[in-house]
Amino acid sequence: MTHGIARLGTRYGFARRFIAGETLDEALQAIAPFSQARQPVILNHLGENVATRDEARKARDSYQLGLDLDPPLCLSLTREIAAAAAAMRNSIEIDMEGSAYTEATLRIVEKVQAEQGNAGVAVQAYLFRSQADLERLAPLKPKIRLVKGAYRESPSMAFQRKSEVDANYRKLLDQMFDQLLLPNGEGLRVAIATHDPALVDYACARIRRLRLMPHQYEFQMLLGIRRDLQQKVISQGHPFRVYVPFGEAWVPYFMRRLSERPANISFVLRTLLAESKKTNSN
Ligand code: FDA
Repeated sequence: MTHGIARLGTRYGFARRFIAGETLDEALQAIAPFSQARQPVILNHLGENVATRDEARKARDSYQLGLDLDPPLCLSLTREIAAAAAAMRNSIEIDMEGSAYTEATLRIVEKVQAEQGNAGVAVQAYLFRSQADLERLAPLKPKIRLVKGAYRESPSMAFQRKSEVDANYRKLLDQMFDQLLLPNGEGLRVAIATHDPALVDYACARIRRLRLMPHQYEFQMLLGIRRDLQQKVISQGHPFRVYVPFGEAWVPYFMRRLSERPANISFVLRTLLAESKKTNSN
């Protein structure tokens, strides 16, 4: 099934709005306009799981690291990537997957951040545990990317209703902004990663009220999603970073984006229909 979608997606290009391409070259081409505008990006080579240690090592060169397979190997590969990034005065950000991986991912972030000081991680507002996770991570000061959370999680561990997730997002954002203002808050950095205009407005109002400085926060959004809101945030002068996914294994990422927004499915269907009409008339 995913192979079929992948073939159609590359043939008809409907995935290109959300995915920068299948190769690093294509991704670099796609980010050129952002680089020209001096806008920072997160480049993410997509891939969900690897099956062998060799695959994990291969993946290190473009990073997804076999957490399922061998956590110590995953840690040492992450260390290598963080060290290579540090040598280029750059940083890494670690995505958060489903809750089965939360604890193992945080342990890796803690170790790598303690050693290299250039690691960040996504924290999901829908998880009950996230408030405690933020407290636990604070002393190490990794960059925190606050997201709502993209996986289906059980009611025993995660808020289910949008209103509850949004309320927790505000609460966690306030918690992080408070940490920024503590005497030992120097060096903390918060990424507000959402396309929700109400949350973006909320964050902007808090940033103004607390007089936060541009080095203390940034907004982040996904390639191709709410480009109007992206422009608005940029035009208001806030630091902004776009998350640019690429790679052959783009289908699971793409499906998550489709399931978040029924309108995306009609966008894909419309593109397919238009393309098949073009093909038939050729
Ligand atoms: P919400 O879903 O409420 O959407 C608000 C509005 O945004 C919608 O009304 C619509 O206009 C627009 N929108 C949202 N999703 C859209 C879509 N797919 N297509 C078109 N429009 C859409 N998750 C995770 O679990 N682990 C992670 O590591 C990350 N990393 C990450 C990085 C960055 C930079 C971002 C922006 C997001 C993530 N996420 C993530 C995904 C996140 O958890 C969440 O699933 C999506 O951002 C959608 O939630 P919103 O906050 O945008 O709000």
